[in-house]
Amino acid sequence: MKTLPLDLDRDRLPQHVAFIMDGNGRWAKQRGLPRMAGHRQGTRILKDLVRCCQDWGIPALTVYAFSTENWQRPLKEVSFLMKLFERVLHKELAEMHQEGVCLNFLGDLSPLPETLQGAIHQACETTQHNQAVKFNVAVNYGSRHELVRSCQSLAQQVQQGQLAPEDINEALLQQQLYTAGDRDPDLLIRTSGEQRLSNYLLWQLAYTELYFTDCLWPDFDRTAFHQALLSFQQRDRRFGKLPTVMSA
Ligand code: IPE
Ligand code: IPE
Ligand code: MG
Repeated sequence: MKTLPLDLDRDRLPQHVAFIMDGNGRWAKQRGLPRMAGHRQGTRILKDLVRCCQDWGIPALTVYAFSTENWQRPLKEVSFLMKLFERVLHKELAEMHQEGVCLNFLGDLSPLPETLQGAIHQACETTQHNQAVKFNVAVNYGSRHELVRSCQSLAQQVQQGQLAPEDINEALLQQQLYTAGDRDPDLLIRTSGEQRLSNYLLWQLAYTELYFTDCLWPDFDRTAFHQALLSFQQRDRRFGKLPTVMSA
């Protein structure tokens, strides 16, 4: 499936897809493997999904890799994930760069291990002018933290006399978010059967179509993505207006 499946309409593809990559632990448990094996398989699936977006003409994706709440997991798992992120970055950077992927990270990166911060910085710098696919990775990301931080930044501008409170509007707040400059996701996909947002992109998902599937993340291949896109193309996105046929 290198080319777009025939039953998908090229003109109605989402321009930005957000993913909550959930179910790695359960995937491993089902196989009698340690949770870490699920995370490892999850990164392989992600690699193919980035390529799939490129193949099918979807210009942007954002994935949830580690939440502000995930620090509460056992230290062993947290350390494994940090090392895994770093290893994957080192291993995949050259190829991603060659394929025109523009990498960007959302979240407060300062508490991450220094070597990981270095790898992230290098990856972003190397790929910043690439245009084939925009690939955002949310690490130590939490939507509430993002909104508080944005409010602090606006408050500071008010305090310094650069901004009047009544001039604060949606566009200005949007510019303070980690996703500044990106269009909002058209489609959110969460795997593993959970139907919640877990502090992910609360502002940005205001009018996003939500798709929940029981498929566990390490099984979320092109066929599963194809199903999600078919479901998306059947939706009528009204944005508060009347259905397209009625308003004519
Ligand atoms: C998602 O899979 C990956 C991260 C949160 C880092 P989980 O690790 O949450 O897997 P489950 O939900 O326990 O199966
Ligand atoms: C959400 O998954 C975070 C990521 C996928 C990185 P979790 O597994 O942490 O979410 P909850 O705890 O089930 O809500
Ligand atoms: Mg989970």
